[in-house]
Amino acid sequence: MRSQAKEKAPGLAHFPALDSSEATLEPALPTGEAKTSAVRAMFDTIAQRYELLNGLLTFGLDRWWRLACVDSLGLGSGALVLDLACGTGNVSRILKRRFMGALGVDLSKGMLERARLADPSTPVLEADGSRLPLREGSVDGLVSAFALRNFTDLQAIFHEAARVLRPGGRVAFLDVAQPANPLLGWAHSIWFNRAVPLIGGLLSDRSAYSYLPRSVEYLPTGSEIVMLMESTGFEHVSHRLLTGGITQLLCATRT
Ligand SMILES: C[S@@+](CC[C@H](N)C(=O)[O-])C[C@H]1O[C@@H](n2cnc3c(N)ncnc32)[C@H](O)[C@@H]1O
Repeated sequence: MRSQAKEKAPGLAHFPALDSSEATLEPALPTGEAKTSAVRAMFDTIAQRYELLNGLLTFGLDRWWRLACVDSLGLGSGALVLDLACGTGNVSRILKRRFMGALGVDLSKGMLERARLADPSTPVLEADGSRLPLREGSVDGLVSAFALRNFTDLQAIFHEAARVLRPGGRVAFLDVAQPANPLLGWAHSIWFNRAVPLIGGLLSDRSAYSYLPRSVEYLPTGSEIVMLMESTGFEHVSHRLLTGGITQLLCATRT
């Protein structure tokens, strides 16, 4: 299976490899515990301006993608949904507007502080998605936006998702993708690989917004993710590309 770490990298405090003069040599991305620590530190650093940058860098499309992700769950009002890797809580707020109950979980204290500020009434927990402090079958749905490539162990995440979902519960994972169309792919790579680090560096943190384009390397292909989900307790797994293939949405039902 491609990615989720191709090479071993030394422990990194944040992503120094991307800050250094070696950056042009494309050093290996961190893996294992080093990745988890680096991801946590990075999101703590960028939490304050995270939502502003999201909107700017996607021309506001990120809101539409999150709406599509929540709606793809097909759950009605009153359903209890875990927002895994909730960050600043923007998916949880959509769930609440749909009259669903939301519970947020994230690794990063900084992101969770912003989530609590934005909506003090939504409970949030600091935890790793691969070791959720929730009982078996305790939620009706699980949604996770723009986090697949940030997880250290995708298989463990899917196993935990299946454990905490009730049988028949629904799951939706949203993340970036690389468009197959050559022209769109070219325009997208200019924006993603050049403009995003530049604008992100000016308004937030340079190493974090240089990591963002590179973190796509962690993502398995769509069909590999589908197979992984099918082998970890899900059925009716679907994989959809959104907006010309710059974003992908995976939905499934807990067996
Ligand atoms: C790009 S942000 C997405 C935040 C939010 N879901 C959104 O749509 O804006 C990725 C989030 O994943 C969180 N994260 C990464 N690995 C995690 C893990 N193993 N467990 C829980 N959260 C994790 C990060 O702390 C960060 O807040």
